[in-house]
This record gives sequence, structure tokens and C-alpha cells, in this order.
Amino acid sequence: MQTFQSIRDWQGMRRQLPVQESIGFVPTMGALHEGHFSLVEHSTAECDITVVSIFVNPTQFNDPGDLEHYPRDLDSDARELERRDVDFLILPDFDQIYPDNYRYRVTESSFSRELCGASRPGHFDGVLTVVMKLLNLVRPDRAYFGEKDFQQYLLVKDMVDAFFMDAAIVPCAIVRDPDGIALSSRNRLLSPAGKKLAQRFARILREGASASAVREQLEASDGIEVDYVVDRDGRRFGAVHVEGVRLIDNVAL
Ligand code: PAF
Repeated sequence: MQTFQSIRDWQGMRRQLPVQESIGFVPTMGALHEGHFSLVEHSTAECDITVVSIFVNPTQFNDPGDLEHYPRDLDSDARELERRDVDFLILPDFDQIYPDNYRYRVTESSFSRELCGASRPGHFDGVLTVVMKLLNLVRPDRAYFGEKDFQQYLLVKDMVDAFFMDAAIVPCAIVRDPDGIALSSRNRLLSPAGKKLAQRFARILREGASASAVREQLEASDGIEVDYVVDRDGRRFGAVHVEGVRLIDNVAL
């Protein structure tokens, strides 16, 4: 695996990659877990070359405390990616990704204001902008996104269509732990008691008869603060806070 901290160096390498080789891309914010590794495995199985980026993107955090506490574990991430046959790891910093200091941004004006966007103003502007930049830098044939962030996946796919970008946006199934909790880098911030509540959230979301029944049951659970539970397009979406950690999940109905 070759690691690039400099975008300019990466661009030099990108220009040399043979056109006949397909490129798979997995954008991440690090603190990698089996959910990320399943994206990497899809990419290495389906593409000749796999590129992973790790960049904790400040513009998608509307809460500075959340950004500050976001888990980071670069050494272990790099070791795991190397073991999984990733070819290139790119590790840009803020100044390289945002030479414009975020003056230019991608805004979606409808769906991005719902669900997570309703309680995290500007979140999806940050996500779409950084994904647009990363896709332009990597120019992949296929880019892999986890269905845990289903709204993100839909918005990225729509953006790529709207701007006639070439990459196929490939959704990958949620990976859950044996207790049914959707894997997330943020789960590392939970205590054992918090993990039990996360398990309860996943179970109630899956089993509840309706969105309102789910909300009621979650609201009755000490330690779970509900942001939203919404049924939409054959899928149930939920977001809660447990021990100050934001957890999201969704299930097909
Ligand atoms: O899903 C994530 O980890 C991030 O939102 C992404 C797509 C890497 C953009 O920063």
C-alpha cells in the first residue's frame, strides 16, 4: 500500500495509473471497523485498484465538540488497510482539501434538509462538498458507501447524477455486531451501559409496528434521547443520542 499525504503527489500517481485498470474508492473518516472493511472487500473484489481516503472532514460537523471527540486511530487503520490489499491510502489535511477555505460548496436544497439534515444544519453541504472533491481527485469507476448512512448514500448518488459525474455509487449493506447494533466509529465512545441502549435502539427500530410506536418506546427508555424516527420510501430511519453520542440506523420495512 502506498500512502499519500500530499494531494499533489497523489495527483501525479493518479495520472500514471493505466486507463484499462478499474479503480474502486472508499472514502472514510477513519476509526475503521468491519463496516468499512466490507466496503474495502467489495472494492478489492470488483476493481483492479482500490483507493481509500481518511479525512475527518470538519465542514460536516455542526457541533465542534462532536468533531473534537470523533475517534481517530490512524496507525491501526493503516495496518488494517494494508492487510486487506488496499493499493493507495490518501490522507489529506484541511488546507489541501479546502484551498478555497470552503468558499465553494455543494448544496442540495430539499432532501438534505430532512432527517439528519434537519437537526444538523449544513451537515450535508459538508458531506457533498468533500465527496465531490474526493471523487474529482480519485476519479474512480466505482465508489462504495455504507447503507447505515442511507440518506448520505442517496444524496451522493443524486449529486453524481446531477453533475454528470462518471463514478458508479455502490451501496453496501449495513454490518451489525452480534447484538444487532449497526457498526459505527462513534460506537467506540459508548460505555457498556451505552452499548445496551444502542442495542435497544436497533431492536426497537427493527421490531416496532410503526414509526410513532418506535418513538414512544424509545422515549420511554431512560438514557435514549430521540432525534427522529421516520418511515419513508419503504425504509424506517432513526437517530438518537446515547451518552451524548449520536447514533443513526435504518431498516427496510
Ligand atoms: O461516511 C463518512 O464517513 C463520511 O461522511 C464521508 C463519506 C467519508 C465524507 O466525509
